[in-house]
Amino acid sequence: MVVAVHDLKKYGQGKHNKIDDYQFGGGAGMVMMVEPILNCIKDLQKERVYDELIYMTPDGELFDQHIANQLSLKGNILILCGHYKGVDQRIRDHIITREISIGSYVLSGGELAAAVVSDAIIRLIPGVLNDESSALYDSFQDDMLAPPVYTRPAEINGWSVPPILLSGDFPKIEDWREAKALEITKEKRPDLLDKDFL
Ligand code: ADE
Repeated sequence: MVVAVHDLKKYGQGKHNKIDDYQFGGGAGMVMMVEPILNCIKDLQKERVYDELIYMTPDGELFDQHIANQLSLKGNILILCGHYKGVDQRIRDHIITREISIGSYVLSGGELAAAVVSDAIIRLIPGVLNDESSALYDSFQDDMLAPPVYTRPAEINGWSVPPILLSGDFPKIEDWREAKALEITKEKRPDLLDKDFL
């Protein structure tokens, strides 16, 4: 698994490697131009085939575990990060296959959003996590938040661990964890219980 970062400025125009310009029709903020993006993507496509060309944007579909699961099954993914007012709409219309937002707020660029999405995807790729931190037991993976976890000591400051976890009765422990996960999900994120994850 390889993560590579590519600088669009390398494909910029003129002696300042310009990649943005004023908006047609007027208005504040610069827009990223078609040509540098197209040239960069074409260059990268000479090396490999991309299964998705993703554009990070606050008006994209809201990123969640379901999308992370889907994307983790892809081969190569290219993520385009916008800056300023964003990219020329023609790139979005003709090149981009998926548009993703990481939340209802505006960042100054798509890079942090791309890092969030990349991390969520990469940790699902087999072999990236060891068994101990297996993604199967993550919050959201079963439409549910994760149950509480405890470690040694079994008691500290008069605070004790739920006795069932010390019982060694693994089927019962599993039942307890499932019940707790459901209880916590109902309390904190009831919306998840109506959702269909992959
Ligand atoms: N670029 C700027 N804000 C963003 C957001 N909330 N999600 C994805 N990309 C962005």
